[in-house]
Amino acid sequence: MSSQLSRKDFGNDFRWGTATASFQIEGAVKEDGRGLSIWDTFSRIPGKIKNNDNADVACNFYHLYENDLALAAQLGFKEFRFSISWSRILPAGTGNINRKGIDFYNRLIDQCLQLKITPWITLYHWDLPQALEDRGGWKNREIVNWFQEYTELCTAEFGDRVRNWIILNEPMAVAGLGYTTGLHAPGKKGLFNFLPVVHHLSLCQAEGGRTVRRNVPGAYIGTAVSCSFVKPYTGSLRDKMAAKRADALLNRLFIEPALGLGYPADAFSYLNNIEKYMQPDDREKLQFDFDFIGIQNYFSVVVKHSWLKPVLWLAEVPASRRNAPATAMGWEIDPEGMYQILQQFSKYKGIKDIIVSENGAAFKDVLSNGQIEDSERTAFFQQYLYNILRAKQDGVNVKGYLAWSLTDNFEWAEGYAARFGLVHIDFDTQERTVKNSGKWFADFLNAEK
Ligand code: FCB
Repeated sequence: MSSQLSRKDFGNDFRWGTATASFQIEGAVKEDGRGLSIWDTFSRIPGKIKNNDNADVACNFYHLYENDLALAAQLGFKEFRFSISWSRILPAGTGNINRKGIDFYNRLIDQCLQLKITPWITLYHWDLPQALEDRGGWKNREIVNWFQEYTELCTAEFGDRVRNWIILNEPMAVAGLGYTTGLHAPGKKGLFNFLPVVHHLSLCQAEGGRTVRRNVPGAYIGTAVSCSFVKPYTGSLRDKMAAKRADALLNRLFIEPALGLGYPADAFSYLNNIEKYMQPDDREKLQFDFDFIGIQNYFSVVVKHSWLKPVLWLAEVPASRRNAPATAMGWEIDPEGMYQILQQFSKYKGIKDIIVSENGAAFKDVLSNGQIEDSERTAFFQQYLYNILRAKQDGVNVKGYLAWSLTDNFEWAEGYAARFGLVHIDFDTQERTVKNSGKWFADFLNAEK
């Protein structure tokens, strides 16, 4: 089955690419006038990043982008998703424009076009300018104006050549990991941050969409949400209710307000408290008619009721406790979950196209004799793709797939320890080696039949 996949089965118009993010690949953090981002600051705090790694150099993509785009082309990918580093083009977040930063993205876009690769811009992939965090960051409703200014600039500079736009990347991670558990930058902790941050992200998601629509004729506009198919641990009513709460948070929180359905307080009444942060007309302002929704699915989640966790009253039962197969991140490998979550999202009437805007896996890669025999990763891709195909054949309007990621990179709090690339990087020498999974993709994408 999955080993006999053929790209033809997905149709000739199915779009194949890889996804990346500025902070994870660019490096050159102090070059050409770039301002600091919250990830520069956060990764300087001892103990926040595994091995105290930082992204000062990362994949040195700022200088090696031509090489890496050539690799993407060689592997057969025709779409390339990257994000703009807000502080590279607006070092203080607002105001002063850094032309050299803009020039970099112009070179990158032009190089994509030269190689007949279609560029996809993500406006926000987590690297908020530190100067804006100093003014309250995502907790401050002013961010809607800051984001507007930034989006106006991006569309004015890049909108003549870039048609595909993703407004936010995984806003749930920003609110949950960035401002509630503090595991990600800016490392803020406390449940009291969660709801205002969620609301401001949702407002920016829709406002950003409107700005791109206004400024870029013919734009294809989406936003990218993390999602995990949620299963209750047992058939008990309590576990089932816990699964509904988890589903509201993990899968419904950012898409439903955009579709005009409001926040999913029906399944998780705590969300009613978000009213405190709502201003008149906000319900309308949260809506935007996206051309596509980017879904990013890596794993499924099993939850049970727990008295020990106030507010949520639930706990995850990790893959390791259930003897379920998992990646090096401990994330459960559940290709069927991809099928299920695609079906779940396709039930929303307001969703037009779906793009799988990220999917991939970290494993412990070993470079030996110039080869990385990552058969687990290849199997992962084959099985997930097989389930995407199945969903498509069953009527889900999925139009494209962007693998995470082209190369190994700085995996946030995991530093360089977690490798997700189709191409291996030796971070001491910056040497690139196509992994066997990358070779599999090349065969798959370049095949005649
Ligand atoms: C996603 C992020 C992406 C990368 C992958 C592994 O949640 O959007 O930047 O870290 O996970």
